[in-house]
Amino acid sequence: MSATTYPNYSPGLQGVIAGITTISEIDVETSSLTYRGINVHELAEHAVFEETAYLLLMGKLPNKSELAEFKARISNESVLPNEVIAALKQCPKNMHPMDRLKVAYSMLGAFDADYRAEPTDHEANVRKAVRIVAKAANAVAAAHRISEGLEPIQPSPELGIAGNFMYMLKGEKPDEFVIKVMDASLTLYAEHGYNASTFASRVTVATLSDLYSGIVSGIGTLKGPLHGGANEEAMYMLMEIDKMGDVAKWTHDALAQKKKIMGFGHREYRIGDSRAAYMSKLGKEIGKRVGDTHWGDIAEVMEKIMWDEKKLFPNIDFPSAYAYYLLGIPIPLYTPIFVVARTTGWCAHMIEQLDNNRLIRPTCIYEGPKVTEFVPIDQR
Ligand SMILES: CC(C)(COP(=O)(O)OP(=O)(O)OC[C@H]1O[C@@H](n2cnc3c(N)ncnc32)[C@H](O)[C@@H]1OP(=O)(O)O)[C@@H](O)C(=O)NCCC(=O)NCCS
Repeated sequence: MSATTYPNYSPGLQGVIAGITTISEIDVETSSLTYRGINVHELAEHAVFEETAYLLLMGKLPNKSELAEFKARISNESVLPNEVIAALKQCPKNMHPMDRLKVAYSMLGAFDADYRAEPTDHEANVRKAVRIVAKAANAVAAAHRISEGLEPIQPSPELGIAGNFMYMLKGEKPDEFVIKVMDASLTLYAEHGYNASTFASRVTVATLSDLYSGIVSGIGTLKGPLHGGANEEAMYMLMEIDKMGDVAKWTHDALAQKKKIMGFGHREYRIGDSRAAYMSKLGKEIGKRVGDTHWGDIAEVMEKIMWDEKKLFPNIDFPSAYAYYLLGIPIPLYTPIFVVARTTGWCAHMIEQLDNNRLIRPTCIYEGPKVTEFVPIDQR
């Protein structure tokens, strides 16, 4: 990379204002997060995930009848077409679940009743968004079961998105506590401003492409370990530490070797990620219920060292990793769960983008060779 610095250039676009939004606000001073003005903790504590989905997509919290109607719509729209199931059966065995999701959503666009709608048709985009959100849990669970050689399980109309996800994954109806944890986790993961995957989906639709293409961009961007993929990497890391048996030594050695420790740090927050604190409370509660508190203990030792030595704090992906592990969810599904949640934020942002669209096209500084003469191929 160039050693030259340029006054208007910020690597990684850090601190660059790339848009105006009314969807969520990150307050870095207090490490708090609000969705349409409502604190995310209040939502995680008192609301089911569908209320958050409604809030993000429609701009306000639903009343009882609006929520019932929305849940019924989600339930009706959650079934996957047979052709998508057949395509998932064709995926290579070693394909990561995030890549399987790209396959599913690439096809789902063409099955949408509004496939041919104008890209800026607000009402059609909201209808598409509901269909996109409705199918995510089913797509993750079906893709997983198929990869394991099992038949997909149809969603149960009595369960919401959180409960259905666990049901379709394992084939057993989850208890109230598990549903509550999944609802809270999906709520915390639903939206987070101009993060990389949301920005990618906004860039995609800003060309007047469609919401499903934006979802595929979002999934591809979320997959990386610097973004959503961190929750999977954090669990593999915790397992390695557990096997080695000395948390403090592992952490000090990793810092000395300048290793990136997955699930720590954040581009926006400086003193902490409040979502992580909430998720860590849930993770420890699950630990107590299932009689395995040692992941929470390892996490506490690491968190203290990371803060004391580097002033780095856990982000939401760190406690989510061991919370999902304790719920018996396979590790490669941790980032896909993030997709189930984030389809809401992605869609809200894409609709906001298309309601007041301008092509997103930044510029760059050229540092390559000066203009030289073209040499024909037989003289090179
Ligand atoms: C999230 C993240 C990408 C933000 O990165 P960023 O704003 O670009 O910050 P940088 O990667 O430039 O890091 C700044 C400094 O902090 C250090 N740092 C940041 N996160 C770190 C981590 N998780 N472990 C160890 N060191 C870390 C960097 O090594 C760097 O140190 P240096 O200045 O001595 O080189 C980064 O913290 C990270 O990679 N975290 C791990 C992945 C993760 O959990 N992602 C999920 C985010 S929600």
